[in-house]
Amino acid sequence: MQNTVEVSGKVHWIGTNDRRTHLFENMWPLEHGVSYNSYIINDEKVALVDTVEIGTASEYLDNIKSIIGDKKIDYVIINHMEPDHSGALGAIIHRFPDVKLIGNIKTLKILTAYFTINEENYITVNDGDELDLGYHKLKFVMTPWVHWPETMVTYDTTDKILFSCDAFGTFGSLDGGIFDDEINFEFYEEEMRRYYSNIVGKYSNMVQKAFKKLDGIPVNTICSSHGPIWRENPGRVLDLYNKWSKYETERGVVIVWGSMYGNTEKMADIIARHLVNNGIKNIKMYDASKTHISYIIRDIWKYKGLILGSCAYNSAMYPKMAQLCAELEHMQVKEHHLGIFGSYSWNGGGVKNLMKFAENIEFELIAEPAEIKGSPSEGNLDQLEVIAKEMAKRLKEDFPTQS
Ligand SMILES: Cc1cc2nc3c(=O)[nH]c(=O)nc-3n(C[C@H](O)[C@H](O)[C@H](O)COP(=O)(O)O)c2cc1C
Ligand SMILES: [Fe+2]
Ligand SMILES: [Fe+2]
Repeated sequence: MQNTVEVSGKVHWIGTNDRRTHLFENMWPLEHGVSYNSYIINDEKVALVDTVEIGTASEYLDNIKSIIGDKKIDYVIINHMEPDHSGALGAIIHRFPDVKLIGNIKTLKILTAYFTINEENYITVNDGDELDLGYHKLKFVMTPWVHWPETMVTYDTTDKILFSCDAFGTFGSLDGGIFDDEINFEFYEEEMRRYYSNIVGKYSNMVQKAFKKLDGIPVNTICSSHGPIWRENPGRVLDLYNKWSKYETERGVVIVWGSMYGNTEKMADIIARHLVNNGIKNIKMYDASKTHISYIIRDIWKYKGLILGSCAYNSAMYPKMAQLCAELEHMQVKEHHLGIFGSYSWNGGGVKNLMKFAENIEFELIAEPAEIKGSPSEGNLDQLEVIAKEMAKRLKEDFPTQS
């Protein structure tokens, strides 16, 4: 018995779970694993929608066999060339040498840079082109930069299934539950936001373009490339993606600091207490040395308030904070209220460089930075309170109905 699940009639999930890899893209922690979702449509013509990462190819081939037996695969639809989806392509071509590969013109250029293929077996599709499998009729929609330039999605007009590739994908393996009505949504929502903010978020304007393109198309089921299949309530994840790609945030504050000996951390605690005294309940606090930036960025994508602290370190920002700031700039995070603080002993450097970051990323500073020589103590705490009060005031104005 192989690990495959029927999605609808002829459509089956034949993906794999990866609970061994520590870091996705060798960068993002996979505490709870990840799934590489591939789908097979066992129609008059047999089509695969994407494949899996190469490390799980052997199990994947078994999954295929358990559905089609000795039948052959007619088509592989390549929605995206990133190796978490194209990794097993070589194994598929090896087993089914006549298989037709379907992608767009940009896919072909990337494909031939990594695989030796017979180009006569490549079918180039354009936006809106259709493929008839017998019962199922598929339509291809180009969604460039959600996540790579060649990325496209495949829409099954028969059962109204959107094979959305990375869009609506989550970290987290599929632990028995495959469909949204079988899982704990809150867990996957957090992991979806971590995936979105760190992997796709940089291209939010292209996500919005994709939304406009797909607007009005009826979708019963979303089959993404990572994480659960959204069949009970696909509208829920469509709404989340729409919100995140419009940089819409909520009432709350993320406080992150870099601190060697705890003085900057103490400042963070004082600010947090003042925020609470001023009516803010959602406060997420992170030591930049301890928590991987992917979790911090996940929460920064959620809350409008951001307060960053750094001790001075060799006339610069504390390196872990510098790394976070560089990543925030790289991901082009937008539209946050920013507060800054930090401790120093002689010429400073932390706060000065946080101010440079604020300028680069074009976040509005809500108040003068709080820079304290040595430890926070009676007599130098005022500015910490000013930052908290200003932040609370703006958040209450922005989100009058939220708590
Ligand atoms: C390796 C190292 C480098 C430092 N570099 C600077 C510096 O360039 N400028 C400065 O004003 N203080 C510098 N300091 C002093 C710290 O910024 C200061 O002790 C601060 O209070 C530490 O805050 P923390 O307790 O949050 O780590 C340095 C300290 C260390 C250990
Ligand atoms: Fe990707
Ligand atoms: Fe992916």
